[in-house]
Amino acid sequence: MSGSEPSIAELQAEYRQLLQRLEANEREFRRLGRAVWRVQEDERRRLARELHDGLGQNLTALKHRLAQVAGELGPGQEALRARMETAIALCSTSLEDTRQMSRLLRPPILDDLGLEPALRWLARSVGESSGLAVVVEVGDLPPLGGEAQTLLFRIAQEALNNAARHARAQSVLLRLVAQKAELQLQVIDDGIGFEPAQARGGGLGGMRERIRLHGGRLELRSAPGQGTRIRAVVPLGEA
Ligand SMILES: Nc1ncnc2c1ncn2[C@@H]1O[C@H](COP(=O)(O)OP(=O)(O)O)[C@@H](O)[C@H]1O
Ligand SMILES: [Mg+2]
Repeated sequence: MSGSEPSIAELQAEYRQLLQRLEANEREFRRLGRAVWRVQEDERRRLARELHDGLGQNLTALKHRLAQVAGELGPGQEALRARMETAIALCSTSLEDTRQMSRLLRPPILDDLGLEPALRWLARSVGESSGLAVVVEVGDLPPLGGEAQTLLFRIAQEALNNAARHARAQSVLLRLVAQKAELQLQVIDDGIGFEPAQARGGGLGGMRERIRLHGGRLELRSAPGQGTRIRAVVPLGEA
């Protein structure tokens, strides 16, 4: 009797059902993963604003007060005036640090003007602080959603920071193009390179996971003495 043996057609149906469940789970996993990143970005945006409007405003006020006091010093108080000038300079540096920290947490330019201006700002900013020559090339892009813009900005930020911190490079190329149904972001440096299998750190791993949640992939080519090439590919459908 063949009654208890499932037929091939039944097995196929069961297999299809399992596959559908697996795909549904994968979609759910990605949705949750992206939600976690979204919460983190919202929190960063809030912190960035608080730093800028709270601490930043207070430092500005403090600087003005000190300048006022310095202005009221009479002749013969040169030593005190010099110390006040030092304090004012310290305020200025702290204010600039606070503003830069706020911008790096969540650059307003990304929300206000979009990805390309934000990438150009990032390149300038990393270039100025590290001495790296950063070249930016951006092709014609279709309109991108906020999440895709944030994803690509964060990848560029991590890769440029790595180039500045680890590569001892002279120059870096940051390139973003839309090709067929994909967005491609490349970061290429001419530095010392490294052995990817031996790299320890959360930056690259986090980047890879975050891209995967958007259905994309990260390609990394590096070897000691050969420079480093990173390519992130994100499907435009997801973007
Ligand atoms: N562009 C690069 N050039 C040379 N070495 C790099 C580069 N990017 C990453 N590395 C190496 O890979 C390691 C892991 O990088 P990452 O995951 O970003 O972690 P982190 O930057 O926090 O160390 C770095 O510590 C460094 O040794
Ligand atoms: Mg890093």
